[in-house]
Amino acid sequence: MHIGLINRYRQWLGLPDLEPVTLGEGNTPMVHWATWNSCRIWLKLEGCNPTGSFKDRGMTVAVSQARHAGAKAVICASTGNTAASAAAYAGRAGLKAFVVIPSGQVALAKMIQASAYGATILAIEGNFDQALQAVRTVAEQESWIALVNSVNPWRLRGQETGAYEILDDLGTMPSALVLPVGNAGNISAYFHGFRRRNEGVPQMFGIQAQGSDPLVQGRDLDNVTTIASAIRIGRPASAHLAKEAVRESHGQFHSVPDSAILHAQEELAHGGIFVEPASAAAYAGLKVLYRRNLLPTGDVVAILTGNGLKDSQTPTMWAHVEPQLVKSQHLIESIGQFMNP
Ligand code: F0G
Repeated sequence: MHIGLINRYRQWLGLPDLEPVTLGEGNTPMVHWATWNSCRIWLKLEGCNPTGSFKDRGMTVAVSQARHAGAKAVICASTGNTAASAAAYAGRAGLKAFVVIPSGQVALAKMIQASAYGATILAIEGNFDQALQAVRTVAEQESWIALVNSVNPWRLRGQETGAYEILDDLGTMPSALVLPVGNAGNISAYFHGFRRRNEGVPQMFGIQAQGSDPLVQGRDLDNVTTIASAIRIGRPASAHLAKEAVRESHGQFHSVPDSAILHAQEELAHGGIFVEPASAAAYAGLKVLYRRNLLPTGDVVAILTGNGLKDSQTPTMWAHVEPQLVKSQHLIESIGQFMNP
């Protein structure tokens, strides 16, 4: 049964006594994908959350807290997934949602989701970092609007449940965690989640997309490009926390090119797991780390952060989406040709 993350992990969340706003988030599949020499590779399918991404873990906590504190509306800047999640949880809570996006840079399905849930979408000329700056200013000036980006500590507290769930799934600490990094909140939340449970920490590997890899380059970037629009971010708000997580866990940041992201997306999809490009970046990074002998032995978990349906355009770059036209009376012959080309 999906009781929601606040009911499941309330003892670790430090929340006041509030009524949870939940859509049954969390409890996502942990798939044993492969064993590469002495590494057991696990994939955590965060795209199975109610709005199709890991953001729901943080949003249940942030929106519950915002409503409890008397907010009338929530606001966020987003590359799409935070927007969809904020919109859904605000709708469930009876609050208004305003989402601010970089114009022309968010996958269509994510905007459709946010507007279907009832959010108001506002687009700015500029990138994600400028959108985040703008919403921070609004939330500072208007106390009835709660900021639900990951700079809100309740968001990160909620996302810590990803770490708790991995401990529950495996019954032990993984040796490494590999995850995509954009605004850098999630990697920080996992790190603190493991630490809070006092069970040590896995080596944390943060994967960025080449062209949007400020943490690999060690400097903020103003012009960012990558096919993985969810992580097209040049000035990560939680960069300091992410660096701490990587340093203290003896992990690393790595970046992968768009070509490797697309290839990883195809490989996962052909194995039955359809993820959006940002999540495929984590898998592409995992393969690089393995090839370079950088992965520790034991249980290695890759966090696949978002569902493939979120960005249904990108796979047209590698998949044959046009159906094959056949005559119905010749169906069996056509199938035969595909079986034995
Ligand atoms: N994967 C997906 C699918 C995302 O949507 C994001 C971030 C990340 C990874 C990176 O997580 O920012 O905590 O380092 N998406 C944000 C958004 C920026 O607005 O939806 P992060």
